[in-house]
Amino acid sequence: MLSCPICQMPLQAVDNGVACPANHRFDRARQGYLNLLPVQHKNSRDPGDNAAMVEARRRFLDGGHYAPLAARLAQLAAGYMPQHWLDIGCGEGYYTAQIAEALPEADGYALDISREAVKRACKRAPQLNWLIASMARVPLADASCQLLASVFSPLDWQEAKRLLAPGGGLLRMGPTREHLMELRQKLYDEVRDYDDQKHLELIPPGMHLAHSETLSFTLLLDTPEARADLLAMTPHGWRASAERRAAVIAENFEVTVAIRYDWIERDAS
Ligand SMILES: C[S@@+](CC[C@H](N)C(=O)[O-])C[C@H]1O[C@@H](n2cnc3c(N)ncnc32)[C@H](O)[C@@H]1O
Repeated sequence: MLSCPICQMPLQAVDNGVACPANHRFDRARQGYLNLLPVQHKNSRDPGDNAAMVEARRRFLDGGHYAPLAARLAQLAAGYMPQHWLDIGCGEGYYTAQIAEALPEADGYALDISREAVKRACKRAPQLNWLIASMARVPLADASCQLLASVFSPLDWQEAKRLLAPGGGLLRMGPTREHLMELRQKLYDEVRDYDDQKHLELIPPGMHLAHSETLSFTLLLDTPEARADLLAMTPHGWRASAERRAAVIAENFEVTVAIRYDWIERDAS
C-alpha cells in the first residue's frame, strides 16, 4: 500500500520503519506513526494546524458537541464496506477513530501534514496506519483505496482520483451555508455567504456525485471553554476582532450545526 514519497517505489517494513528499494528510509516514531513528509516537500517548518488549534479541537470534539456528525459519518463509511480506506487531513483523529470502529475488518490509513495532530491522533486508534504526509503527494499506491474520507479538510482532487479504485468513493463532510450562523453573526457585521455547492464544481472527469445528504441540529454552547475552543479550532479564532471574540466567550448561546455529506464515486470503468 505505501509508496516512497521521494521515488514512488513501494515501501517495505524494515527494523523500526519502512524503506524503498532505492534505500530511502523512514523511521517509525515512538508514538507509532510514520513521517513520510520529506523536508523538501514542506513549505514551512511546521506545516498544518499548530498545537493550540489541535488541542482546542480535541477538547471540543471530546466534549461530544459534534457526536451526531461523527456517528453518521461512521455509519455511512461502514455502508460502503471498503477493504482499504484513508482519512485525508485527519487532524487529531476524532472522526478517524470512529470510522475505524465502524470498519473493524478493514485496513485503515490516516494522514495529516501537522505533526502535532498526528502525534495525538495515533493514540486514539493504534491499529491504524498513521502518517505525516501531504494530501498533495499521498504516499499510497494508485487505485489502492475503496474509500477516502475528507472531513473539514482541504483536498487535492487529482490525488483523490489517483488513489481511488474504480467504484470506490470519496466521503466528504463539510459545512452548509447555515453552519455556525449565529456565531458568525456575533463575530462579523456582515456575514459572508458561503457557497456549499462549490466543491462539486471541482469534481474531475472520471468521478461523479452519487449521494448527498445533510444533517443539522441546534447546539447549546453553555461553557466558556467550549465557546473558546470552538473559536480556536476555526479560522474565526484569528479572523474576528479580539473584542467580538471576548463577547462570544462571555455568554451562553445556541448555534446551528449544519453539515453536508457527499459521496463522490470514481467511475467503475
Ligand atoms: C479543519 S482541520 C480538520 C481536521 C479533522 N478532519 C477534523 O475534522 O477534526 C484541517 C486539517 O487539514 C490539515 N491540512 C492542511 N493542509 C494539509 C495538507 N496539505 N496535507 C494534509 N493535511 C493538511 C491540517 O493540519 C488540519 O489538521
